[in-house]
Amino acid sequence: MQVITTKDELRALLSEWRGVGERIALVPTMGNLHAGHDSLVEIGRRHADRVVVSVFVNPVQFGEGEDFENYPRTLEGDKGRLREAGADLLFVPEVDTMYPFGLEQATVVAVPYLKDKLCGSFRPGHFDGVTTVVARLFGLVQPDVAVFGQKDYQQQLIIRRMVADLNLPVEIVVAPTVREKDGLALSSRNAYLSDDQRAVAPAIYKTLLAIGEKLQNGQRNYDELEREATAGLADLGFRPDYVALRCAGDLSDPDADCDEIVVLAAAHLGDARLIDNISVAI
Ligand code: PAJ
Repeated sequence: MQVITTKDELRALLSEWRGVGERIALVPTMGNLHAGHDSLVEIGRRHADRVVVSVFVNPVQFGEGEDFENYPRTLEGDKGRLREAGADLLFVPEVDTMYPFGLEQATVVAVPYLKDKLCGSFRPGHFDGVTTVVARLFGLVQPDVAVFGQKDYQQQLIIRRMVADLNLPVEIVVAPTVREKDGLALSSRNAYLSDDQRAVAPAIYKTLLAIGEKLQNGQRNYDELEREATAGLADLGFRPDYVALRCAGDLSDPDADCDEIVVLAAAHLGDARLIDNISVAI
């Protein structure tokens, strides 16, 4: 696996691969890799001849008072992990490689409507930061396919919308959420949890599954399901941002035409903000 930090080296290697007709997959990450990221690399490999992984802690997707400074940076461990997972190239750009005109003058890519819902309403500007950096990574790598995790449901939906709306020539593949044995979705932010908090954390997934079961049993009072679940998480010591039942296609409130519901939750526990979701066919 090659480790590359500059645009020129990246272009040279990519054009070598493209020159012999190889398909390229991109897996964008912020590092501190875990088995969830490994699964994205594996899925990328199924769709392409070469897998490029980027590790870049993107300053513009962190809000004021969020964890940009403290976000775990574990590049040496990440390299070992990616070699094992079978990545061909690790791209680790500096901030001025990603933002050559500086952060103040950077071109911003934004997906209105979807970006202000759910997590977007609690983290203003977050999704603009995500689409802005992902569009840049697509420009630099020009992948045939890019892989994102279902764990960040709203993120993958926004990226798919950006790609469709801008006619970007990249196929988006969405990978299932990888979980710990007790159901907790793997996340770099789980490292912020104390042992006691770690023991409570799987309650988010359990709450989502309980709602899924109620939906399958025919319950359709979405407001009540949201209220009960939010109160239940608060009772366990979480500080919930939301539990929401939405139409899977566009995060709108479910109506009679909606045949797939996504149940999403975001809640703080200690220093960690945890998110998770499940999809339920109805
Ligand atoms: P990061 O949180 O590092 O996640 C990188 C990718 O891994 C995302 O597509 C995310 O959905 C996926 N992922 C995280 N946890 C997962 C799990 N438990 N199972 C499956 N996939 C999982 O998401 C970002 O970085 C950034 O916003 C980024 C897209 C890189 C833009 O900066």
